[in-house]
Amino acid sequence: ARLAVFASGRGTNLASLLRTFPQGDALGSVVLVVSDREDAPALARARSAGVEALHIPWPRGGRAAFEAQAQAALEARGIDLVCLAGFMRILSPVFVEAWAGRILNIHPSLLPDFPGLHAQRQALEAGAREAGCSVHFVDAGVDSGPVVLQRRVPVFPGDTEETLAARILYEEHRAYPDAVRLVLEGWAFPPPDAGFVRERYG
Ligand code: GRF
Repeated sequence: ARLAVFASGRGTNLASLLRTFPQGDALGSVVLVVSDREDAPALARARSAGVEALHIPWPRGGRAAFEAQAQAALEARGIDLVCLAGFMRILSPVFVEAWAGRILNIHPSLLPDFPGLHAQRQALEAGAREAGCSVHFVDAGVDSGPVVLQRRVPVFPGDTEETLAARILYEEHRAYPDAVRLVLEGWAFPPPDAGFVRERYG
């Protein structure tokens, strides 16, 4: 399978996907990295791994322009699965629907708890005893599609946003590759209304 990763920033989840799904891997390879930010470290990571790095600008109010370019790039490269990894933009329902069952995201909480920004801070403020990360199929909501897998961590007294985020991030790097493998091997079921499911399972 041919994988594309969308990332806006640091790209440590991208790095774990690049390591797990290198060029020539029998199950899947990351062949394209897309960023809305030209200076994203994620793009530099792609380049040093020898993977195509594509900057697609997200002009003010220009989601449609971004999505048209992204869609064309994905189609031209025969992409099978899109992985959002720290992609800090909300994609439109039309784009997400076109990729239903073939687009994943990682979020640093045990969904459905704490969707949206600053999930680790939200967990601390709510007094959660446990936190973690979720890899999920993307649907039209924000951090709301069916969960493929989660990894849990304890919250310790005295945790700050930084210490908790680091503990969760360590698990993210294991969770994302594992979830992608489950999806590619056909063990994870995409949303029931995805065209992909109708084709495969009737
Ligand atoms: C991760 O915590 C991810 O769960 C969230 O954004 C962060 C991205 O980190 N969606 P990185 O760019 O992969 O290092």
